[in-house]
Amino acid sequence: MSSYRPLAAVVLAAGEGTRMRSSTPKVLHPLCGRAMLLHVVDALTELPLERIVLVVGHGAERVTKTLQEQLATETPVEFVEQRVQRGTGDAVSVALTAAAFDDLDADDDILVVPGDTPLLRSRTLAALATEHRVTDSAATILCARFDDPSGYGRVLRAPDGRVDRIVEHADATDDEREVTEVNTSIYCFRRNLLAPALRRLSPENAQGEYYLTDAVEVLRDTGHRVRAMVADDSAETVGVNDRAQLAAAESELRRRINDRWMREGVTMVDPARTYVDATVELEPDVRLLPGTILEGRTVVGTGSVVGPDTRLVDAVVGADARVESSVVRESEIGDGCAVGPFAHLRPGTRLAAGAKVGDFVETKNAELGEGAKANHLAYLGDVEVGAGANVGAGTITANYDGREKHRTRLGARVRTGSNSVLVAPVEVGEGAVVAAGAVVTRDVPAHALAKGVPARIDESWVDPAQGGEPPAAGDEPPAAG
Ligand code: UD1
Ligand code: CA
Repeated sequence: MSSYRPLAAVVLAAGEGTRMRSSTPKVLHPLCGRAMLLHVVDALTELPLERIVLVVGHGAERVTKTLQEQLATETPVEFVEQRVQRGTGDAVSVALTAAAFDDLDADDDILVVPGDTPLLRSRTLAALATEHRVTDSAATILCARFDDPSGYGRVLRAPDGRVDRIVEHADATDDEREVTEVNTSIYCFRRNLLAPALRRLSPENAQGEYYLTDAVEVLRDTGHRVRAMVADDSAETVGVNDRAQLAAAESELRRRINDRWMREGVTMVDPARTYVDATVELEPDVRLLPGTILEGRTVVGTGSVVGPDTRLVDAVVGADARVESSVVRESEIGDGCAVGPFAHLRPGTRLAAGAKVGDFVETKNAELGEGAKANHLAYLGDVEVGAGANVGAGTITANYDGREKHRTRLGARVRTGSNSVLVAPVEVGEGAVVAAGAVVTRDVPAHALAKGVPARIDESWVDPAQGGEPPAAGDEPPAAG
């Protein structure tokens, strides 16, 4: 066995991906909430690599920015630009000019991975590198067998089984197209043999490109050992070139994510109808009902039940909460809260433990204290609702005066009546009551009653809950206009 040379990786991500018919670079299309290319690089960063070099080109700025923002790794990553996309062979030549390689021994091994194989697992890459090193090969190709190999380069073997060359689908004869063993575009090369081989490529082929695949034939012709290793799981190596393949890859990734969470103690009543981004965190004994979509940095705590038909985006849900048929974005739902059905929690909503937001309630920048309730038909924007407060059906915070947003503060145990309007900025003191239909334009002291339009304040009032009389409907008709 040869001593192991250092290992680096090159990721090819400069292509336009014309078959996607998209204004977004192909490698940035998301699968389960994470860009295709990030899935590939994630698999690489689990390996002990010296360097990762990313070849960018089409949409280089967007691709580089996305990676820099979302990639967290100790491995040094360098971006090199392939200005004109002359083919995969040219892309690797450009990669080899990266500064990252200057201080590395030229006698190292390089994993080459395309940016469009998001299902690739790190253990497969590790196995490829090991095979390459153990057999002391100049090139080791990861190949796969597909029932439908169309579109892929075919691996052509000599009668003795050794790899002869790779022929691209577009250049293949009918007989060659019968071959079901395909090139996955994932390889391990010895750098000091690859560089001269790349210089001998020519673009005389159907696509007029410098094919990396031709380096295989060059290496073999110059007497070097080229091997092909068959992938254990061919599904891992599928390339995404169009939207149908994108959907197929996403569904495979989703299946993996769901399997992982189920193994960790999450119940999914129907995993095929449960959509969990790669970036989501779930605790054991979470129960997800059909139609649940969990996106971004969403976290769901133990014992909570989400769904059916619920979308949580960057939401943090505590333990033993219930979120049903609702949409929640950039919000926090505390332990034991109940949300929905049909609630809309917009960014900045924070529900303390035991709070309840019921049907047709919209919240935004809203903090509800412990046990506070807005059970039906309300708009709560830019508001603090104290602990134990009860927001009546149809209560509206009028938070916008046409120019600016203003805040509303409801103290602990405040009760607002049906169809009341709180014209912000306004504050209702603790234990105060806002009568049905009141339009509150001034602050209401603690334990007072606000009634009428605009609401008048009755400080002598005694809360019926404390033995007083309930306010009679319309006992103080609004002043004529
Ligand atoms: C390639 C292989 C094919 C293999 C298939 C597996 C070649 C010539 N063909 O074909 O044998 O079966 O992958 O999925 O290598 N890229 C660049 N610069 C370029 C061209 C491409 O960076 O100038 C990048 C693309 O962004 C992509 C990757 O290289 O990530 C592969 O390119 P693509 O056009 O998808 O190659 P395929 O036709 O799929
Ligand atoms: Ca491809």
